[in-house]
Amino acid sequence: MKVFVTGHRGYIGAHLTALLKDAGHKVTGCDLGLFDGAEWEPLPAADNELRKDVRALSAKDLEGHDCVMHLAAISNDPMGDMDPDLTWSVNRDGSTRLADLAKQAGVGRFLFSGSCSVYGKCGSEALNESSELNPLTAYAESKIKTEEHVSQLADEGFTPAYLRNATAYGHSPALRIDLVANNLLASAICYGEIRIMSDGTPWRPLIHCKDIARAFVAFAEAPKEAIHNKAINIGGNDENYQVKDVADQVQALLPDAKIAFTGEAGPDPRDYAVNFDLLNSCLPDFKLEYDLQKGMQELYDKYRQHGFSAADFEGDQFIRLRTLSTRLDRLRS
Ligand SMILES: NC(=O)c1ccc[n+]([C@@H]2O[C@H](COP(=O)([O-])OP(=O)(O)OC[C@H]3O[C@@H](n4cnc5c(N)ncnc54)[C@H](O)[C@@H]3O)[C@@H](O)[C@H]2O)c1
Repeated sequence: MKVFVTGHRGYIGAHLTALLKDAGHKVTGCDLGLFDGAEWEPLPAADNELRKDVRALSAKDLEGHDCVMHLAAISNDPMGDMDPDLTWSVNRDGSTRLADLAKQAGVGRFLFSGSCSVYGKCGSEALNESSELNPLTAYAESKIKTEEHVSQLADEGFTPAYLRNATAYGHSPALRIDLVANNLLASAICYGEIRIMSDGTPWRPLIHCKDIARAFVAFAEAPKEAIHNKAINIGGNDENYQVKDVADQVQALLPDAKIAFTGEAGPDPRDYAVNFDLLNSCLPDFKLEYDLQKGMQELYDKYRQHGFSAADFEGDQFIRLRTLSTRLDRLRS
């Protein structure tokens, strides 16, 4: 299969590129390189590398591919809030245009990297794909608007699907520590303190970033009827955690680390648990490779191997918001 992956140099894209190549697929990667220089480990190369803004792609760039996997985005809620207009331009307008072009170019499948952030805030009930959406940020809203537009394009020859991913964590060659689990483990290693910015009660569905990449491969290889024009939550029913549960996992790895509630409630009110039954029924053979315990053990070993330090924790390399804030001009030109 010839696969066109956008955002292939990102946290999830790095795993996806490697997995697709390992499975024998040919990969065209398109990435603007917003985080170039921030790599933790060498990134796997695509067979064909395009260093381009997705908004500048043409149908010709996509011709001859069997599947587009669209990951490139301003990729979390806080980054999206930095410049909402830019978030609309890249995440909604860039994505809907790309889907239009993919259809025009005769690409049969369009897999969109969405997010469980669309659920925003809920009570203790786990939300499924039919639950009311409650986007709290431009980022989450942009994911919904893209699903709405792209779903109009679905027909006999064009199969879109929307992967509503849980919050990622875990090791990647393009490490990020702006993700709750990675951040709590890093702070325990660097300071002997697990710094929780909320009161620890918010719920989050978690998934290893490599399992998101594995889901993309499974969606590309699945029978059309299993995924055609469906929004599907990507994660595991046993992988909903309160932030304080994540802290407990960290403490199991570093028993001397103290849990500290810093009291800054922070600007992020997201609080939701998610149901993943639809994924299990549409793709019964797809199983997560990681649970939180396994993923945290792997990341702990990697942090130790790399000698992850307080300078790393406090620097810009692994925090996308900091890196992006100095590079926004690349998206504005
Ligand atoms: N990490 C998570 O927790 C998570 C959860 C749910 C959904 N997602 C979604 O999955 C996708 C990938 O997430 P990630 O964590 O790997 O993000 P990331 O920020 O690590 O990587 C995104 C990549 O896209 C590239 N990019 C951004 N704008 C571009 C543009 N206009 N043109 C070309 N390239 C551009 C960046 O250079 C970067 O390499 C995103 O759409 C994100 O919203 C991520």
